[in-house]
Amino acid sequence: LNNGVAPTPGMGWSTWNRYGCNINESVIIDNANAMIKSGLVNYGYEYINIDDCWAVGRNESTNELIADPVAFPNGIKYIADYLHSVGLKMGIYTDASPITWQKRPGSFGFEQLDADTFASWGIDYVKEDWMKQSFYNWTGDPIALYTKMSDCLNATGRDIYFAVCEWGIDNVQTWAPAIANSWRTAPDIKDEWTRIMEILDLQLPLTNASGVGSGWNDMDSLEVGNGNMSTIEYTTHFSIWCMMASPLIMGNDLTNMDDDTLAILSATEMIEVNQDTLGIQAYRVYQNTSESTEIYVRPLDDGTHAVMLLNRNDNDTLNIELDLGLLGLPTTLNCLIRDIWKQQDLGVYSGSYISDNVPPHGCVVLKVVWMD
Ligand code: GLA
Repeated sequence: LNNGVAPTPGMGWSTWNRYGCNINESVIIDNANAMIKSGLVNYGYEYINIDDCWAVGRNESTNELIADPVAFPNGIKYIADYLHSVGLKMGIYTDASPITWQKRPGSFGFEQLDADTFASWGIDYVKEDWMKQSFYNWTGDPIALYTKMSDCLNATGRDIYFAVCEWGIDNVQTWAPAIANSWRTAPDIKDEWTRIMEILDLQLPLTNASGVGSGWNDMDSLEVGNGNMSTIEYTTHFSIWCMMASPLIMGNDLTNMDDDTLAILSATEMIEVNQDTLGIQAYRVYQNTSESTEIYVRPLDDGTHAVMLLNRNDNDTLNIELDLGLLGLPTTLNCLIRDIWKQQDLGVYSGSYISDNVPPHGCVVLKVVWMD
């Protein structure tokens, strides 16, 4: 959606992965404050998004959505005003059907009213989910309903990031780019390595859907820091999201992060790849199915390439060779190779480069700069 809101993938934080329905005003405010205090805001994170479970019903006379009065005693606008006062933006959640996955009210039939309500509260980001099998045996046309909400948000006159959440079904990548800033492309993330790999594999046919002026393939919010994966696995998870130009919506407790978590979420050169203004999602150029190694390439706006060497093997530490011809340029050229995670130049190479000792589930991300 070319509404000027997301020239690069959105960055922020969401309640869902860590808190689920255990949300309230202080969870939101405390995490927003932590996003500032930890310095994460300096890397581009800006949205603070409330996911499902904030709404309890509709006003009997106006039909306006009502926030849970116990969890949000001061209402949603109060939180949005606070976030804006500290330089952040606010996101909220609804559903295209009559109810959400947690059986809260959805926007079906109330699209313009809800868009107007969100705009009046100062909402900057709307995630619209898709509860297709409701109690009421409800079915609806997702393309028509998401288009309607997009139009209603546009009609408010407020700049609002529109995030479609339909998990890659109904060929979402063919119609969402015209109406949304990002669209989910896979089932819900889990804090598990195998799910990270499943989500990665689902992106491969979608490369051309994303880009500047359309929007971004959304691989779901991040699990970095939630505790069930190793630091190596979280580093790979974050690298993949950056290479694939997915939105970077953190999903952990920002008030209580260990050093490794903060280091991953604030990896400057990796985030620069994610936010690269050429906006081209990485594509796979190499796969060795017996070793379980893969190589992904993302061309960058300065004429260089980001390259991820991925070891999907569960047991073996492997050396992964990058044939520089895979980048589409003559192998006789010299190129400077830099390690993006170590933030170190590794040297000048031509023909190929071998990354030694990539651990199981680990990756190396290189920046390749052509010199002549
Ligand atoms: C669906 C979405 C998730 C989350 C939950 C909330 O599963 O895909 O991202 O929003 O609903 O109920």
